[in-house]
Amino acid sequence: MIVLGIETTCDETAAAIVRTGPDGVGEIVCDEVMSQIALHAAFGGVVPEIAARAHVEVIDKLVRRALKKAGVKIADLDGIAAAGGPGLIGGVMVGLTMGKGLALAGSKPFVAVNHLEAHALTARLTDGIEFPYLLLLISGGHTQLIAVKGVGDYARLGTTLDDALGEAFDKVAKMLGLPYPGGPQVEIEAAKGDPARFEFPRPMLRRPNADFSLSGLKTAVRLEVERRAPLNRQDVADLCASFQASIVDVIIDRTRVGLRLFHEKCGTPTALVIAGGVAANSAIRGALNRFARETGLRAVQPPLALCTDNGAMIAWAGIERLRLGLTDDMNFAPRARWPLDAGAARGHNPKA
Ligand code: KG4
Ligand code: ZN
Repeated sequence: MIVLGIETTCDETAAAIVRTGPDGVGEIVCDEVMSQIALHAAFGGVVPEIAARAHVEVIDKLVRRALKKAGVKIADLDGIAAAGGPGLIGGVMVGLTMGKGLALAGSKPFVAVNHLEAHALTARLTDGIEFPYLLLLISGGHTQLIAVKGVGDYARLGTTLDDALGEAFDKVAKMLGLPYPGGPQVEIEAAKGDPARFEFPRPMLRRPNADFSLSGLKTAVRLEVERRAPLNRQDVADLCASFQASIVDVIIDRTRVGLRLFHEKCGTPTALVIAGGVAANSAIRGALNRFARETGLRAVQPPLALCTDNGAMIAWAGIERLRLGLTDDMNFAPRARWPLDAGAARGHNPKA
């Protein structure tokens, strides 16, 4: 099977070709990504209107380049997959319409992929892991603990009630005058700072549900920044280190509860899969690896380029669905919100 995947839900325009051999193992033939970070940097965050326009400008070139690099034509494909949401609606419309147009013109099966499902299934492409597993998805747009039980079969165990983790990193960076995207900058500063200097709250600690809440922590950092202004370089480093230490504690505590809920609802997971841009943070990754060792879990982290938004994950999710005969028709409408499980409506995060 060979499938084209298109991703445009946030600030990455991506097109990729993924194929499977007779054994069903996936192989990324090519994965073209164009990041818009430079366009949004001046605003300190993603501007939806700018994102949508930038997707329009490059999507056709990117798809053409992916096909050329892979040495395939539309006629050779077994299907076309495009992210149908959740995400910034203007961007979703661009990729979805492109995917539908190509499918229609080439008389190919079409799959509208849930972007979260694509993140959830990536570890099966990279590491071939079996269902069921526990996914911790931590990025600028998503913060979720998900029981991945099968294709189309998910239970959301926890989500953020306010900011996504990456968003919290980016906002704290902004308060401290660090450039966008702030997560990597905060990590660099934190390495030079004292994590014990400021005692920031650990929101939701030991709550029996696996939800996250980050606005209280963010406010605590803001108050400290205001109290100490003007900040010297050591203050910035210590604030970053203390903030990051709090985040690490929160992630481990929430993942521990997520794992308990997983055992209660779905049995024993085959692995703990860690995905999303925030998983690039070595303090967070280190703590999660220690946690996995302690609990006897296998920790799996797909390569970073496949943890952040990309086209290969959309193509792979397309393959997983096509193998089960699951396709979508031309009436599929773009979705700003699209929870992975029907029972997930209780979350308040507008991005989930
Ligand atoms: O997955 P991603 O590339 O894009 C989406 O949000 O979909 O994640 C980007 C987020 C940004 O908020 C960025 O600040 C954060 O991941 N991030 C980090 C680190 N590297 C990226 N946060 C903390 N530490 C890092 N090293
Ligand atoms: Zn994403």
